[in-house]
Amino acid sequence: MPSTPVSDLQAPRGTRDFYPEEMARHRRLLDAWRRVSLRNGFEEVDGPIFETLDLYKVKSGDGIVSELFSFRRDGGSTDYALRAEFTPTLARMVAKRANGLPKPIKWFATPNFCRAERPQRGRLREFWQWNVDFLGEAGPSADAEVVFVLVDLLRELGVREGQVQVRISHRAVVAQVLQRLGVPAERLTEAFELLDSRSKLEPGVFAERAAGLGLDPPKVQRLDEVCRRRFAAGDLGHLARALGMDAPPDDLVGLDAQLVAFGIAGWCAYDLGVVRGLAYYTGTVFEAFETAGVERALAGGGRYDRLIETFGGPAMPAVGFGMGDVVLANLLRDKKLEPEHAGDGPDVFIVPLADADPAAVTGWVARLRSGGLHARTTYKPTRNTGKLLKEATGARARFALLVGVDSLELKNLATGEQQAIADEDVASRLR
Ligand code: HAM
Repeated sequence: MPSTPVSDLQAPRGTRDFYPEEMARHRRLLDAWRRVSLRNGFEEVDGPIFETLDLYKVKSGDGIVSELFSFRRDGGSTDYALRAEFTPTLARMVAKRANGLPKPIKWFATPNFCRAERPQRGRLREFWQWNVDFLGEAGPSADAEVVFVLVDLLRELGVREGQVQVRISHRAVVAQVLQRLGVPAERLTEAFELLDSRSKLEPGVFAERAAGLGLDPPKVQRLDEVCRRRFAAGDLGHLARALGMDAPPDDLVGLDAQLVAFGIAGWCAYDLGVVRGLAYYTGTVFEAFETAGVERALAGGGRYDRLIETFGGPAMPAVGFGMGDVVLANLLRDKKLEPEHAGDGPDVFIVPLADADPAAVTGWVARLRSGGLHARTTYKPTRNTGKLLKEATGARARFALLVGVDSLELKNLATGEQQAIADEDVASRLR
């Protein structure tokens, strides 16, 4: 018997039950993710809902590993974990069939993931995440293309330039800045981790840890300044001058030109404070934020050129990102970009008139549904036409088909126009 009284059983903390209205809103996001992926030439993939724990120990980093929901079957000897991100699954899948897969590999996935985080705004223990990954292309056009896909999705949902910003950095450029400040090459990984946790640390603690990496207070201040500034995409000279460089960093020159070519430079800014917590990134990294900055990152990604090799595959460049449904839904709600009703109403609601033969009503329902139309009728015993038309409007039907013993009328519920119709014309009129 359960230890909790059955009527007190709750959904686990940080998870959601999707009732029809919420599910329709959720489905709208999943559908937009799929639609935008397909039109950008990405193919859908998926993997298992649980993985061996070891998969995440390869390269995800301590952050993810400490948040896994892990388990072992009674009597078993293998440790498993509920999937917490897609990238290791994708790397394993690509490594296994790398030679047979047509290149470049452009994949997307929209699974749910579980992380044992402390639930708060924008952060749950189960969330859906859109993954868009482009493998086999080393050039910056692939980086720019995945950022384009991200922006394409935002535009598809009505978000405008200026409301969300994609903040881009490059690990090689940050490494250059750190080395010029005196951080030794062998301590760069530590320095990246410190930078990534910067916003969560008290300034004093940050300075103390930076001192441990060889940075004196003026250098910590300089680093902090560099990490706080944002530079418009399409204007790399500005960034170079701020970093005290004669020319813009090579790693960003090609990317910048591609962002301009894709027409999305206005959505993007360079921000060397973006470091990304995950351990597998090797080059460009980026995060998308609501510009006013109230939310956590909406999406994050970057280049992970060595991960496929790490999983036993060939050397293969790769870049991609993940976007979470929770932050996206918050953004759409805040910007008033959610439709009043998500999901489609029926094409037609069949209203039995007082004298209607129930079998004839059922016949209409069956015929129209078999013809691919979304047809509903009432389950109430009433034959009050006014009440039934109200039910049809409440269901957001486009038309009502009024079925009498020897009459048939079609009413357009938007315009109120109503006229007799021949049996054989109903389906075509509804289409
Ligand atoms: P991530 O930064 O861990 O990256 O997650 C990407 C996005 O997923 C976040 O910006 C956030 O919107 C959402 N997300 C993450 N954790 C949660 C949570 N607990 N609750 C709600 N939303 C969450 C990755 O997962 C990388 N594997 C992405 C990637 C794909 N990189 C390359 N390809």
